[in-house]
Amino acid sequence: MKDKVLIFDTTLRDGEQSPGASLNLQEKVEIARQLEKLNVDIIEAGFPASSPLQLEAVRQVSEESGKTVAALCRAVERDIKSAHDALRDARYPRIHTFISTSDIHILGKFGHDRYGKTLGEKQRAVLRMAVDAVSYAKTFTDDVEFSAEDAGRTDPGYLAEVIEAVIDAGATTVNIPDTTGYTWPSEFGRKIADLKQRVANIDRAIISVHCHNDLGLAVANTLSSVENGARQAECSINGIGERAGNASLEEIVMALKVRSDLHNYYTDIITEEIFNTSRMVSSFTGLIIQPNKAIVGDNAFAHESGIHQDGMLKNRQTYEVMTPESVGVPQTTIVLGRHSGKHGLQARLSSLGYKVTGAELEKVYERFLSIADKKKEIYDDDLRVLMGDELNKPLEPLELDYLHVNSGTASIPTATVRIKVKGATYEESSTGDGPVDACFKAIERALSLGSLLYSYSVRSTTAGRQALGEATVRLKDGEQLFTGRGVSTDIIEASAKAYLQALSLRQDSKEHDNNKTIDNGI
Ligand code: KIV
Ligand code: ZN
Repeated sequence: MKDKVLIFDTTLRDGEQSPGASLNLQEKVEIARQLEKLNVDIIEAGFPASSPLQLEAVRQVSEESGKTVAALCRAVERDIKSAHDALRDARYPRIHTFISTSDIHILGKFGHDRYGKTLGEKQRAVLRMAVDAVSYAKTFTDDVEFSAEDAGRTDPGYLAEVIEAVIDAGATTVNIPDTTGYTWPSEFGRKIADLKQRVANIDRAIISVHCHNDLGLAVANTLSSVENGARQAECSINGIGERAGNASLEEIVMALKVRSDLHNYYTDIITEEIFNTSRMVSSFTGLIIQPNKAIVGDNAFAHESGIHQDGMLKNRQTYEVMTPESVGVPQTTIVLGRHSGKHGLQARLSSLGYKVTGAELEKVYERFLSIADKKKEIYDDDLRVLMGDELNKPLEPLELDYLHVNSGTASIPTATVRIKVKGATYEESSTGDGPVDACFKAIERALSLGSLLYSYSVRSTTAGRQALGEATVRLKDGEQLFTGRGVSTDIIEASAKAYLQALSLRQDSKEHDNNKTIDNGI
């Protein structure tokens, strides 16, 4: 008999906590649709109490998903109620509540005397809060997950006590996070085996793990815990998440699949959807995949040396432990161009995981044609960038109406911009260290702003001289980061658009005040 490992995807929650990776509503819904195609078991859609935008995202994902949708909440009534509100339309709602259990977290987060004076008293208070939270969540849904935050560094006896108590209170999944990515694979595996021994009612719940990658051990720790009894793996696409990220979904799934000769575990992931999902997440979050990233990096199936190429031609298995087809890397590139019709574009987008219809399709087609005028061949990665750009539209965009740049080896770089917003027009010029700097300074002058620039990068989406340039600009305003992307065959124009988009998103967030986040203590 084979044992199933449930795949709990947290790209939309922990993944979105990656610095600068914020996703808008439409992007979240698109990613959730693709996760459904990938056939994950649980989609963690967000942390509703942290902002109205998060609540709405969880609501929209739950409304259309046929999967279990989880919403995260601290072990407090207000958060649990928000999670329930956000999940009201979910077919299979899961409330996921968490509280810290390690000494270092308890002393840091529950330092106030109202939680008790000694560590022992505080531990009692935390245990009561955990049980109360699970009992309260249980009044809304049968499917309640409890996470003991920083379980990796929690005293084993206390951890077992908390886990037993929350299972008694009704938790159906108990999650053991290695929040700080500190544990060692055999040590983490033993932790799971130990819980199975110590917790009398452990058979009434599924053991889950949630490993962070601070030491690069998240996938190894997850696999070790599976060997010791965990049956749910929390992970994210491309391994994105807080700090060094979470365990990468594609690596866990393919390791289990490729080395099925060693064990009896399986997942229900449709592995051929991995590549599309990975590219979609990368283009929406702006988090670029390193070329040598296992499974989904550009070089994952590239063979450079003559000896390797020769071996591959004779027998692919000489240097490949899995085929590119098995993870959905396209073998033939379908190229669209100026003569491609709307339906051809729609079909291609759909095979890449984007559902575009009606007025939205018209808009996307128009942009497609204007790019096709400048660039003869349009590749899948160009379309992904185009979709990322389309879905990240601010409510009130600052539009680049005119741009003139003068630059060269013998002249001082100068830029003039004209920007339109809400019917008004602003125009200014500036010099700068280079054409992009001149352009950014002209924008700041035109809008009477100081520089909020946090990071800037530009990359080409495909190879060749006519490639689209995608610029990413991050602005930092207090604690908040705003990411703008711009796409054009002209990288200066792409940079100006990216800067204006980031400024527009900042403006939206100020005016609509819906992006405020609470200090969630994760
Ligand atoms: O890393 C962590 O501990 C978490 C929990 C909230 C599951 O993200
Ligand atoms: Zn986490």
